[in-house]
Amino acid sequence: MGVSTSIVIFGASGDLTSRKLLPALYHLTLKKRLSADSQIIGFARRPYSHEEFRRLMREAVAKAQGAAFDLGLWDEFAARIWYVQGDLDTEEDFGALDSFLNERETDDANRLYYLATAPSYYDPVLLHLAAHDMTTEQGGWRRVVIEKPFGVDSLSAAALNRVVHGAFQEHQVYRIDHYLGKETVQNICYFRFANTILEPVWNRNYIDHVQITVAESVDVEHRGGYYDTAGVLRDMFQNHLLQLLTLTAMEPPSSMEATTLRNEKVKVLSALRPIAIRDTVRGQYQGYREAPGVSPASDTPTYAALKLYVDNWRWQDVPFYLRSGKALARKASEIVVQFRRPPRLFEELPRARRSDPPNILSLCIQPDEGIHLQFQAKVPDSLSEMRHVDMTFHYADSFDDRAIPEAYERLLMDALGGDASLFTREDEVMLSWRLIDSVLQGWQMADAPPLATYVKGSWGPDAADALLAGEDRVWRVACGDHD
Ligand code: BG6
Repeated sequence: MGVSTSIVIFGASGDLTSRKLLPALYHLTLKKRLSADSQIIGFARRPYSHEEFRRLMREAVAKAQGAAFDLGLWDEFAARIWYVQGDLDTEEDFGALDSFLNERETDDANRLYYLATAPSYYDPVLLHLAAHDMTTEQGGWRRVVIEKPFGVDSLSAAALNRVVHGAFQEHQVYRIDHYLGKETVQNICYFRFANTILEPVWNRNYIDHVQITVAESVDVEHRGGYYDTAGVLRDMFQNHLLQLLTLTAMEPPSSMEATTLRNEKVKVLSALRPIAIRDTVRGQYQGYREAPGVSPASDTPTYAALKLYVDNWRWQDVPFYLRSGKALARKASEIVVQFRRPPRLFEELPRARRSDPPNILSLCIQPDEGIHLQFQAKVPDSLSEMRHVDMTFHYADSFDDRAIPEAYERLLMDALGGDASLFTREDEVMLSWRLIDSVLQGWQMADAPPLATYVKGSWGPDAADALLAGEDRVWRVACGDHD
């Protein structure tokens, strides 16, 4: 019996393969979600034998799994792993890869090509796959998964899309944003649309503003070389933060099917008001310029905050504040929805400050996965004192029998299953770049806000607080504050 599905990983000797992809595939095998007649082929330049590659992957998976690593299952899994040595720049090596695959596959076998290489190799890989006619769907399907970053601006993303479409049709393309693979991010849609209490208040009539924070405590670590050319807007905003924004702001899709869902996300991105450069903040943590691979005169921002508006009926004039940065006080990804104040309270009570609002809903994406709802309650045994109290849901309490899977597990499973709803479509990527380009260009202008520095381990530059303080608002993080 031949192989029915091949998963080909380009860039198989890299970090992503050992840290994320192989552990995820192993886990899918453990859960019996990867068909028994599928095979995994690593393709890279290093001269590994099949056995050497398997050993390296075993070490990586064992490390990722810890005590849960099962050697017996590993041996079963490893029997499906192969290594093909080849140069991504050399067209003939793709011919050799094709022959290797053909020898083992059935006539109607499927292939998933995973681009886990440095972005500079995307073009040659796509061109060589097309040159060997490895992308046409004659019997089985052919799909390609493309890692981020998808371009560095609109122009390069459009150019990459042209190369992609020279090899694959859009329905074969799966652009990864690993945030969409996170359970808590998928839950944004379920929380909003599988409950009736939210929809009536999820609009400008009841919501004062929305905050989206993706704070990281780690600094650039060993990734200075890449990061210094990218910066936080390209690294985090163009993809992860804007995806969180679309899921928070979009209209209810009529189904969760890829086209329908992505149409709604695109409508949000199309409705983004051109950003005013005074509504942006950029910062760099102290010491960043000394990191390996970073230019000593670098003005790359490691932090940014933006104020955005979605110009449509639901959200007119409701600010969406987005912020993300490295080397911040702690890791916290969170969507905060702050509701408006009630029109009046009992006459005799003092009016609470605007910055002390009655209702705040926090969707905690990570690490303290859950949802918090903050509301006012009368303090017992007081005459008329009020205090914030918190109603919380934690995955760890409510779903203690189910571990939250790694994002890559779900994404790989969906790509194999032909479900592109958790992947970004061409127009989404292009609209996201349009916004990021405009900020990057604005930052080149004379009236741009200066690059502020901030202390490692803080919550970022003061200017970010000022962006909200001017409107009597403050940044909030509720996740992780429950204990
Ligand atoms: C990646 C960025 O896309 O996301 C990294 O390139 C960042 O710089 C990472 O650290 C954050 O992902 P997560 O899942 O740890 O929040």
